[in-house]
Amino acid sequence: MARPSHICSALTRWLLLLLVLSVAAFPPMLADPTYGPIPGMSDIYSQYWGTERPFPGNFTDPIFPTEDGPPAEDDYIWQNLLAAEWMIFEFYQQGVERFTEADFIRIGMPPTTKLRLMEIRNNEAGHLRIFQNMISPTSIKPGPCKYRFPLTDPLSYLAVMTVIEVSSMAFLTGLVQDAKVDWNKGALAAISQTEARHETWALIDLWKVSPFAGPADTTFPYANQILYSTHGLVVEGSCPPENPEYPYPLQALPPLWAAENTESMAPGAVLTLLFPDPKNQPVFDEYTQYYAVFFHGLLNLSIPIETAGYPERPITVTIPAACEAKGIIIALIADEEGAPTKESVVAGPAVILEQPAALGLALVKSGPNPT
Ligand SMILES: *[C@@H]1O[C@H](CO)[C@@H](O)[C@H](O)[C@H]1NC(C)=O
Ligand SMILES: *[C@@H]1O[C@H](CO)[C@@H](O)[C@H](O)[C@H]1NC(C)=O
Repeated sequence: MARPSHICSALTRWLLLLLVLSVAAFPPMLADPTYGPIPGMSDIYSQYWGTERPFPGNFTDPIFPTEDGPPAEDDYIWQNLLAAEWMIFEFYQQGVERFTEADFIRIGMPPTTKLRLMEIRNNEAGHLRIFQNMISPTSIKPGPCKYRFPLTDPLSYLAVMTVIEVSSMAFLTGLVQDAKVDWNKGALAAISQTEARHETWALIDLWKVSPFAGPADTTFPYANQILYSTHGLVVEGSCPPENPEYPYPLQALPPLWAAENTESMAPGAVLTLLFPDPKNQPVFDEYTQYYAVFFHGLLNLSIPIETAGYPERPITVTIPAACEAKGIIIALIADEEGAPTKESVVAGPAVILEQPAALGLALVKSGPNPT
């Protein structure tokens, strides 16, 4: 009969072996692009009707590099996008967990709403896997943080969902401009088309409006500024410590929004600017002329603003009446007309949803981005 100490050491050896095996087995498995369902070859990224997190959303650790060497030149773009995608995936996952089919029917939404949200959640899981695989083996693949989303009622959930999909076009067209490798530009454009389909479904089926955004969606060159504007959704200190800084490079500009008493966000409306983060306020130099710059379609329009009395005297600006009331308008504050460089931006950007107009306004009241 084995003595207790022998049993213990045998057990310890087994446990150690298990530990070594699991540490050794898990990260390299995920680091291997052929591990698990492959996007484009598996239908779980479309048709999976469970509530449990689909692969790779069910693995929450970052994936460590498996090779030594310099990062590929576009790795940081995919890392930024993967970190943003974790937020979007979680938004859908938590919505799928939180709301029932009946919740959506009760607020007048079609009976297929829950199924579609699951399908979008599955597409977003596919994006997680695609972005993980686009990052080269010499770079870390960031893991998820904890997020706080407005999940109180099904209507505001669908409103925020619509704004996420509509604004994803703006930062994806921006990331395309950052990418150096042609293949990556094409891949980013392909992802933006998927988001466009999600958006189109929401506009037609949920909100019963025309899905078209005029002849061109709004393209915005400083993608990281939009990514940073979502940082209020991340629970502070909740990200895996190994994750790279998000987004990288980081400007940490003061957030910009419209004051709560705003009556309209349509072209021609007068807005009172609100800088909602007391810890991150813009500092205006008294000898500099600042502009509110509005990006719409492929154009931008600059309106000089009066900053001298801020914060005692609020800053107001008129949304250019010349903009078509379609899609989105992106507004920011810059110290140069046309915000020709990312360094010229001093606050914002804010995404203004023009369509459906009532939704854009409702989001001002609730604030899509708690800071
Ligand atoms: C995640 O999902 C995959 C595929 O469905 C499964 O093989 C794997 O065991 C799951 N992993 C965890 C940690 O839940
Ligand atoms: C805004 O438009 C001006 C004039 O057409 C252009 O010079 C400038 O580069 C544009 N800004 C951006 C950020 O594209």
